[in-house]
Amino acid sequence: MNDLIAGDEGIDPRTMLGDFETSLWLPRFREGQWGEWSLRMLPATAARGYWGRGYRTTGAVMLMGPFAGNAAAWMSIVPMEIESQEIGIAAAHGHTVVLGLGMGWCAANVACNPAVERVTVVERDADVIALVAALGVFDQLPAVARAKIEVVRDDALRWRPGERVDSLQADIWARFVTPRKWDDLRRMQDNIGAATIYFWGQELELWRLACRAQGRVPPAFDGAELSALVASTGLPLIIDGRPDYALRIAEAARWWTPQEDGWWNAE
Ligand SMILES: C[S@@+](CC[C@H](N)C(=O)[O-])C[C@H]1O[C@@H](n2cnc3c(N)ncnc32)[C@H](O)[C@@H]1O
Repeated sequence: MNDLIAGDEGIDPRTMLGDFETSLWLPRFREGQWGEWSLRMLPATAARGYWGRGYRTTGAVMLMGPFAGNAAAWMSIVPMEIESQEIGIAAAHGHTVVLGLGMGWCAANVACNPAVERVTVVERDADVIALVAALGVFDQLPAVARAKIEVVRDDALRWRPGERVDSLQADIWARFVTPRKWDDLRRMQDNIGAATIYFWGQELELWRLACRAQGRVPPAFDGAELSALVASTGLPLIIDGRPDYALRIAEAARWWTPQEDGWWNAE
């Protein structure tokens, strides 16, 4: 059963984000335990954003769950998580499939995008679905956004839609840099055939390909190299239209990829 620790009204995570600002939607959360999954409020005096900037914060709401025989953080409301999902949220349109429910934050923000007509969320874990429902994450949305969302319990690597998917937002991983992420994506896309794709940490995985191509950390990285790498994947990846995307990828990689030489070769 749910064991809610904080008050019924919950906590607005924006109050913990300090000097980090976002226009994206944030629900209130409460602490609790659902099977092997829990939501916790943790103190955190600083946080690094995805693009490398440091922020002063006071805390974070964190989703902990089972991972490789231990409990691990799967999602938290921190600058890095918000910045690393906002390109996909902004580009979502039509019928959007979100793979991985987590705290429901990404799916909720996809539903808030007026270009999105419907959101199908695929999640394999019943306790995750139960916790998002118990917290009323989607019930806090404006009614027009709430009405767009359907949650399906299934394996994102096997699930097939019954209809056209205009955009796919994939986030089923607990770790940014995950061996075989490209293989996972190809399996998803073989089943789903989405017109456009954005996945969590795609910038770091494109950086992996850049490192592989050069056999080292590239000393420079520009838009032409980025476009060539994206084309080489054969996947319809959403590419941020701002001219400094390649530079920002290189900066994100400095903070969020492993330091060991040759990490990019791990399979
Ligand atoms: C990192 S969290 C998603 C966080 C989410 N983007 C958010 O905004 O809160 C990953 C989620 O994917 C789910 N997941 C992992 N592997 C899966 C699979 N094969 N099929 C479906 N869901 C999966 C996990 O249970 C977890 O809920």
